[in-house]
Amino acid sequence: MGGELSKRNAVITGGARGIGLAIARRFHEEGGRVCVWDRDPSPVEESKEASVALALSVDVADEASVAAAYDATIQRFGQIDILVNNAGVNGPTVPFWEYAVADWDRVQAVDLKGVFLCSRAVAPAMRVRGSGRIIHVSSVVGKTGGPNAIAYCAAKAGVIGLTKSMAMELVKDGVLVNAIAPAMAETDLLAEMSPDYIAEVKSRMPMGRLCAVEEIADVAAWIASPRCSFTTGQVFDVSGGRAQY
Ligand SMILES: NC(=O)c1ccc[n+]([C@@H]2O[C@H](COP(=O)([O-])OP(=O)(O)OC[C@H]3O[C@@H](n4cnc5c(N)ncnc54)[C@H](O)[C@@H]3O)[C@@H](O)[C@H]2O)c1
Repeated sequence: MGGELSKRNAVITGGARGIGLAIARRFHEEGGRVCVWDRDPSPVEESKEASVALALSVDVADEASVAAAYDATIQRFGQIDILVNNAGVNGPTVPFWEYAVADWDRVQAVDLKGVFLCSRAVAPAMRVRGSGRIIHVSSVVGKTGGPNAIAYCAAKAGVIGLTKSMAMELVKDGVLVNAIAPAMAETDLLAEMSPDYIAEVKSRMPMGRLCAVEEIADVAAWIASPRCSFTTGQVFDVSGGRAQY
């Protein structure tokens, strides 16, 4: 198959549903071969989803689980050209003084440490080959902050920090690292949010609507493609005008 991602192997964490699945479908349309690393890959396992060539059960917050997934992916694909760190959890939506410490730890483990662990596993071989693309899915609240999601906002801001530092460390190796900062999209992620929280975020959307997952996938496909060749360490906004910078 032709396309801008022809002969590119991509790992998409959290690609079994929502934004990650939309990215998997978009990459597949461009000729890419997709492996999903997901805590629950059941929706895309074995021929259920044509865009996904391989689906592995992985906890991105667990170093051994990520190492095993890396080995299994290399065995099947030979190499990984693109890593999309998309897996994430929201955590509860309550004021920070009521936020449970266990929830804080869980959100940091998946949303921040998971990005570090997966990038740490995949980057060395990219460096040796002198090429690769790493894309982190942050959030608009990683830039702006937001009320009542303290662990999520802090983790997503941390992901922007990882993006810039990783980009600097890899810039001489031909590996580009960029992030995407979407605003709210209708996915299963909203299950942990209170109705009031969702209504409040919606009311602040300048375009008067939520983001479509395909809009995020389009941006990811461009960043992953050879057409993105002189841009690294950047955060691509997909917030419908909500973020001012
Ligand atoms: N939906 C939104 O409004 C929105 C907005 C901005 C950013 N994001 C970010 O986009 C990414 C995808 O979110 P989504 O909306 O598609 O959510 P989702 O809940 O629909 O999908 C998240 C996926 O990640 C997987 N996952 C969760 N924890 C995992 C772990 N420890 N290891 C491996 N896989 C794990 C889940 O099984 C699921 O398939 C997240 O990083 C999220 O923070 C979402």
